[in-house]
Amino acid sequence: MPRATWRIRRAAVVVACYAVLLIVGAGASADNGPHVQGQGLVPDTCAVCHRVHTARAPHLLRTPETDLCYTCHGAAAAGASTDVLDGVGYSSAERTGKPGALRGGGFKYALIDSAASSGQSSGGSDPGGVVPVLASGAPVTSAHSVDASSQIAWGNGPISAEANYGKAISMSCGSCHDPHGNGNYRILRPMPLESGAESGVTIPDAVTKVYTTTNYWDVEDQYAPALITDISAWCATCHTRYLSSTSYTESGDAVFTNRHITSQTTQGSANCIQCHVAHGSNASVEEGLSTGVHSPQGVAAGPGSRLLRIDDKGTCRMCHVEE
Ligand code: HEC
Ligand code: HEC
Ligand code: HEC
Ligand code: HEC
Ligand code: HEC
Ligand code: HEC
Repeated sequence: MPRATWRIRRAAVVVACYAVLLIVGAGASADNGPHVQGQGLVPDTCAVCHRVHTARAPHLLRTPETDLCYTCHGAAAAGASTDVLDGVGYSSAERTGKPGALRGGGFKYALIDSAASSGQSSGGSDPGGVVPVLASGAPVTSAHSVDASSQIAWGNGPISAEANYGKAISMSCGSCHDPHGNGNYRILRPMPLESGAESGVTIPDAVTKVYTTTNYWDVEDQYAPALITDISAWCATCHTRYLSSTSYTESGDAVFTNRHITSQTTQGSANCIQCHVAHGSNASVEEGLSTGVHSPQGVAAGPGSRLLRIDDKGTCRMCHVEE
């Protein structure tokens, strides 16, 4: 399904366009909330985000984009069941009942029991494929930035014999998600904004939407089998050179020379979201060897958890089991 695109229509082509719109509308799948493609000729949803004469942000938006998303997907908000700031999801937009833990983690707090997985809570030495959820949110130690500040999308661009760490882009929620709906999984844009990707990656939508999880190591979405198959290629629209189908070959790149395999496409294997969450993580990194891992261009990472699902290097132990 192509992304919703807007253009100015001229009177002369109106008739032809009606036909196209009807086909698109009929083919549009679920999406959710106000983000539904094919709103028809008298849509109501535009008003939640746009103002015609009194807009306060570009694209005639009521408020700057990320604030706008948080009016419904934020902490104090009502309007969506998913509070991505706190990493919690409810059974309804009224937010009654016991909150669950969101699949993507959170931008300010998250509920990933990132220590338990390493056997610390269970007292055992075999992590056993489970990363449980916390009862209440812990502050995140890393998150994708959504404040439109200029940040390097590490690995963006083709293999390069000369050091090239990536490209600086200004990211907000709408860089990854299409606010108008597009019929794809989580309305993810096949070509994220500013990714410079040459071809798009479309992940078919879930037939039923379940936004929460009880095990952060079980990253599959049973209602969207293609998520696991396609997600690494999708992340790599921005982080191009992180995608690798082998572990042992030199790539020829000056920075991303030898790379762990990241393209495996089954649950429990090395795809991007097996090791990382999409939004933000509360995993802790102890002062020690893990804090000594610098960014690709050599800047100290500090206690940043790099969106990992497990503390320190506990992630490695989930697959590489000690005998
Ligand atoms: C959930 C919020 C939301 C809703 C609902 C929404 N929009 Fe938007 N719209 C945005 C955002 C954010 C942008 C800027 C990002 C982009 O270009 O997609 C935008 C951009 C646009 C643009 C400019 C696109 C461009 O390429 O410059 C048009 C035109 C538009 N919207 C029309 C509409 C119409 C018509 C509706 C109702 C059917 C609608 N929008 C509903 C959030 C929304
Ligand atoms: C008027 C309230 C409102 C605003 C503003 C809003 N959303 Fe939503 N959004 C919803 C509702 C309701 C849903 C349905 C799921 C839920 O309750 O969380 C939803 C669902 C979603 C989903 C999941 C879609 C799917 O296919 O499952 C994403 C992703 C999303 N919104 C992103 C955004 C982004 C990005 C913005 C800002 C550009 C935004 N939303 C602004 C109300 C809103
Ligand atoms: C770097 C890309 C990226 C950015 C930026 C981003 N998202 Fe997401 N988002 C994703 C992906 C990928 C998923 C699917 C995660 C999964 O299923 O494991 C997702 C899932 C979601 C969901 C479903 C609930 C969940 O936790 O899985 C909602 C709602 C949502 N995003 C809203 C937002 C809002 C609002 C913002 C800005 C505050 C935002 N996203 C910023 C990539 C992004
Ligand atoms: C729209 C482009 C874009 C997409 C798509 C994208 N990223 Fe990123 N990513 C960035 C940028 C820019 C940064 C730089 C750090 C920041 O966001 O502040 C980043 C940083 C990261 C980091 C380091 C975070 C930190 O705080 O240290 C990880 C890990 C990561 N991305 C993983 C992923 C995964 C996994 C996906 C797919 C689910 C993904 N990215 C999709 C743009 C993107
Ligand atoms: C096997 C686990 C694993 C997989 C799979 C994985 N990562 Fe990572 N990633 C890590 C770890 C661990 C770090 C922390 C840096 C380190 O230890 O080298 C990291 C760091 C990052 C960073 C921060 C910059 C850096 O290199 O330190 C980005 C960006 C990133 N990963 C993106 C991705 C993307 C995109 C994918 C999928 C194509 C992916 N990762 C797959 C484990 C993984
Ligand atoms: C999701 C499972 C998974 C996780 C998590 C994981 N690995 Fe791997 N690892 C693999 C697979 C699969 C291979 C490839 C084995 C092969 O090709 O024979 C591999 C290969 C390797 C290799 C050999 C690569 C070479 O070029 O010699 C090393 C070293 C390695 N992993 C280290 C790590 C470290 C360090 C971590 C934690 C940051 C980690 N792995 C996390 C699955 C995983």
